[in-house]
Amino acid sequence: MKQTKKKRIKKVDQRFYTTLTKMANKPKVLITRPDIPAVGLNLLNARCDVVLWEKPSPIPRSELLSRVPGVSGIFCTLTDKIDEEILIAAGKDLKVVATMSVGTDHLDLKALKNRNIKVGYTPNVLTNATAELIVGILLATSRRLLEANRAIYRNEWKAWAPTWMCGTGLSKSTVGIVGLGRIGCKVAECLKPFDVSRILYTSRTVKQEASKFNGEKVELDKLLEESDFVIVTIALTPDTRELFNAQAFEKMKRSAIFINASRGEVVDQQSLIGALKNGTIKAAGLDVMTPEPIPLDSELLKLENCVVLPHIGSATIETREEMARITAENILAVLEGASEKMPASLNL
Ligand code: GLV
Repeated sequence: MKQTKKKRIKKVDQRFYTTLTKMANKPKVLITRPDIPAVGLNLLNARCDVVLWEKPSPIPRSELLSRVPGVSGIFCTLTDKIDEEILIAAGKDLKVVATMSVGTDHLDLKALKNRNIKVGYTPNVLTNATAELIVGILLATSRRLLEANRAIYRNEWKAWAPTWMCGTGLSKSTVGIVGLGRIGCKVAECLKPFDVSRILYTSRTVKQEASKFNGEKVELDKLLEESDFVIVTIALTPDTRELFNAQAFEKMKRSAIFINASRGEVVDQQSLIGALKNGTIKAAGLDVMTPEPIPLDSELLKLENCVVLPHIGSATIETREEMARITAENILAVLEGASEKMPASLNL
């Protein structure tokens, strides 16, 4: 009897040690927030020793620094700045940083490359969702949808009126897309059926895809001067930071509508506010701004001719699930020694 009990204890001990050994062999991965879609969380939980920031809000810098030592992978979002300091704190085991975003301006790519750390991101899966949102904010701005909606609640809708709440139509207009990447192309394709007459774009090279919508590659100045709608889908880089400054707004038509869904920092926001107040341009629709979230007392929020959204370009349920899945798979591929199988790695 005694013997059996001893054996049982031995068995339990063995199981305990096996679990411990397994855990010890699992790579440690930091996920910077707990509220990522379950598909991503489950994939990593099954095959990694996951360290989690437990609050559904961006991880404070000090917490990030204290949790990152010894991790092999980091699952981050665009609100987490991954720079030299974080990489030093992480140490030599760090092999992959995967961001649940298409934008990578929050990552110090040079520092990552120098350390031979792989970078994963989520292009393609969010193209359609973001293009839809851009078309939505463009229409909301050009047809004054939010302003008209607010007017009802302010009891300003007295009767149908011939000139009340008139906006700008897309038909026969010229649309300019600054930075014709995947999202810009999709936006152009979506807008073409609105009987847009010309689609201009800027890009380093002539884009084959632009033939689908007869896109014309032009210099930025020409695009600014000739477009009725200026849509920004360019990535934030040192070259594009504050590309849209007072001079750029001066070049646009006074009737121009400016849409930004890339990063707030590509715009000199004070100049944009000035341009909207002075009538240098007609209106703006922004899904991104500086800072995010925008303080409630910002002048931007007081302008009737500015539609502001809280950075929701890719926010469809399916898209965010796919983004979480790809981010997790980017990490697993590297940690399981098959970085060539990363669903979306950035060429550094
Ligand atoms: C959103 O802005 C993204 O970069 O995914």
